[in-house]
Amino acid sequence: SLPDKVTIIEVGPRDGLQNEKNMIPTETKVQFIKALKQANLPEMELTSFVSPKWVPQMKDADEVIEQCLDQTRNFVLAPNQKGIERFYQSGANEIAVFVGASNTFNKKNINKTTNESLEELKPLISDLKQNGKFVRACISTAFYCPYEGKVAAEEVIKLSETFANYGVDELSVADTVGMATPKEVYDLLNSLKSNLPKGIMLTGHFHNTRGTALANIYASLEAGVDRFDSSAGGLGGCPFAPGASGNVATEDVLYMLHGMGIETGVDIEKVIKAVDIVAPYMTRTFDSKLYQLQKNN
Ligand code: HMG
Ligand code: MG
Repeated sequence: SLPDKVTIIEVGPRDGLQNEKNMIPTETKVQFIKALKQANLPEMELTSFVSPKWVPQMKDADEVIEQCLDQTRNFVLAPNQKGIERFYQSGANEIAVFVGASNTFNKKNINKTTNESLEELKPLISDLKQNGKFVRACISTAFYCPYEGKVAAEEVIKLSETFANYGVDELSVADTVGMATPKEVYDLLNSLKSNLPKGIMLTGHFHNTRGTALANIYASLEAGVDRFDSSAGGLGGCPFAPGASGNVATEDVLYMLHGMGIETGVDIEKVIKAVDIVAPYMTRTFDSKLYQLQKNN
């Protein structure tokens, strides 16, 4: 049977904005985050501690965090030691590290092989846990890599077990370039559910590049997954994954789940209002059925 409650992790302020060429004013980002919080989104990725040369849009991470921390789970992404030092300075309590299952992708994204990233992160995650921080690990290219093609499920299972041994609290399994289809999603998440220690939270992160994201969420629900990353307005995409488009739209996910009687606690109308705050700055169209429907009527 499907879960009767699902937790949505809003990634719009991070994944949604990171690839936008126009610099969005910090104040607008803060308003966007606060409006999403008003919609009752329980967990959110606020921003990233990455190199401002690689991802200029995230260079105001410190200011964003300073204005947005509250009692809910607020993730900040960090890929390396420097990012984790900045995280400690910021006073945030939840961190998201990210590693690609595909070596080539990891090289393009963070300039290290997958193993080099793991070696660097191992002692850092151990420290984070000793300091009482919540650690989420995002596994990119968990199904397909834009450079290497199909990624073997065994690789992803091995990487997930490594992170489990490092002591992470959550794994977010990502279809970075939106190539996965429901059966492979069900199979991988189902194996992860049975291979990982019970205490680890398992989350699906789907990009909607080929229109399969909602179907992949349904397949994940069937595998017993009850946490999903999504982005208000369907914004998003990794700058170092050619062809990556937006994350599945939060409002479209909510529509489907609520229609199925699955509770999220999130207010759809307020999510759509939040999107209006960043809309004037966006150079891309919104990959969100609900948002388009409202704006075209
Ligand atoms: P590098 O050039 O190899 O780094 O980049 P380095 O260690 O040689 O340092 C070069 C410079 O960057 C130095 O500064 C460092 O201090 C600085 P300089 O001396 O030249 O002035 N630096 C930093 N500054 C701020 N924060 C840091 C940091 N680290 C070094 N953390 C690096 C390596 C990881 C920095 C770079 O490749 C990078 O920033 N990559 C970010 C990639 C990124 O943000 N990708 C998008 C997020 S992941 C994603 O979207 C996927 C996800 O959504 C799931 C999915 O869909 O798959 C999560
Ligand atoms: Mg992503």
